[in-house]
Parts: sequence; structure tokens; C-alpha cells
Amino acid sequence: MEILETERLIIRRFSAEDWKDLYEYLSQKSVVKYEPYDVYNEDASKEEAIYRSQNDAFWAVCLKENNKLIGNVYFQQQGSKEFLTWEIGYVFNPAYYGKGYATEACKRVLKYGFEQLGAHRIIGKCNPENTPSSRLLERLLMIREGHFRKPAYSKKTIDGKAIWHDAYQYSILEEDWFNSTK
Ligand SMILES: CC(C)(COP(=O)(O)OP(=O)(O)OC[C@H]1O[C@@H](n2cnc3c(N)ncnc32)[C@H](O)[C@@H]1OP(=O)(O)O)[C@@H](O)C(=O)NCCC(=O)NCCS
Repeated sequence: MEILETERLIIRRFSAEDWKDLYEYLSQKSVVKYEPYDVYNEDASKEEAIYRSQNDAFWAVCLKENNKLIGNVYFQQQGSKEFLTWEIGYVFNPAYYGKGYATEACKRVLKYGFEQLGAHRIIGKCNPENTPSSRLLERLLMIREGHFRKPAYSKKTIDGKAIWHDAYQYSILEEDWFNSTK
């Protein structure tokens, strides 16, 4: 896994030592509200940092100025390899919202996907109620191509029933990317 760089960020593989920064945001209810997991405690964050350090889908996003890990981007190939389709996802620490860091990190990962991996199509999905996420996908020039009716759940009721939710799906194609960078 290589190291990606932007004006303000370094985007790199996770390491086991990242658990404290990961805990800082994954321990917050508001952050995991739309994620398929609940808040993490310290031990779970330690395990998660190790897991991510061995998984090419998770990119740690760090501030250049002080190396602080402020969030992560998820980038994983989907379906048959020949269709050259990846999915992007992201979770950031609320202390760093509203500064364009998620946009900057995701744009760099899209660039990596299209220009280095040869992606044909990159998708992003979000719960329609998650306005910050749909706004981010739109800032990335991704096009909303579908509103799916309750295809997934991320949380269950206390008696174990799935809480199904709708999903928007967005995409950006290689031609969109290369036209936007002309
Ligand atoms: C989704 C998420 C990453 C979006 O965070 P965000 O802070 O809104 O996104 P960015 O870091 O790109 O910042 C964009 C904001 O900074 C502002 N901004 C400031 N400087 C900026 C710059 N240099 N470049 C771009 N935007 C800038 C933008 O105007 C925008 O503000 P607005 O929403 O008031 O218009 C964040 O809400 C999150 O982590 N949520 C929890 C996890 C989650 O739900 N993940 C998605 C599951 S599908």
C-alpha cells in the first residue's frame, strides 16, 4: 500500500499505534450512527487498528502538520474484478469536520483509483438521512443514480430485529473523472 499525499494530508496504511486516534472518533455515538457497528471501546479500537493495519481497504487520513489521524477512507473493489468497480466510504473525527478534509482525502483516493488502479467506475452509498455524507459525495462530483428501498440495515432493535433503511447510490465514471481534471 503506498502513501498518498495532498496539500494538507498524508493518507497511509493503518498501524497498531493508531488505536487511540481511532478510539477518539469510533467511541462517539454520532459518528457510528450510520455505520454497521456500534461504538468502540478501547480494547475494540486496539483490535480494529491491528485489523486495519493488515487490510488494504482502509486508509488512515492524517494531518501533515502534526501527523494526527483524523479519519479514514474505505476503498474496496466490488464484484467481478473485470468490471473494474470500487466502492468508497469514509468516517472522520467530528473535531475535524467542516474543513474540507474528507473531500480532500476522498478526491485523492478517487485519483488513485482512476489514475493508478485503472478503475472504470467508483460508487458510494449512504443513508438518505445522512446529509453530510450525500453532500460529500456530491462535492466529489459523483452522480446520484439510485434511491434503493431498504436494501440494508446497520442497527438492530433491542430485541434483535433489523432496522432497515433506504440507501442512495452515487457513482463517478472514469470519463467523468478525466473530464473534470482536464
Ligand atoms: C461524512 C463526513 C466525513 C463529512 O464530513 P464534512 O466535515 O462535512 O466533510 P469535509 O471534511 O469534506 O468538509 C466539508 C465542509 O467543510 C467546508 N470547507 C471548509 N474548507 C473547505 C475546503 N478547503 N475544501 C472543501 N470544503 C471546505 C465545506 O464548505 C463543507 O461545509 P458545509 O457542509 O457546511 O458546506 C462526516 O460527517 C462523518 O465522518 N460522519 C460520520 C461517519 C459517516 O456517517 N460516514 C458516512 C457513512 S455513509
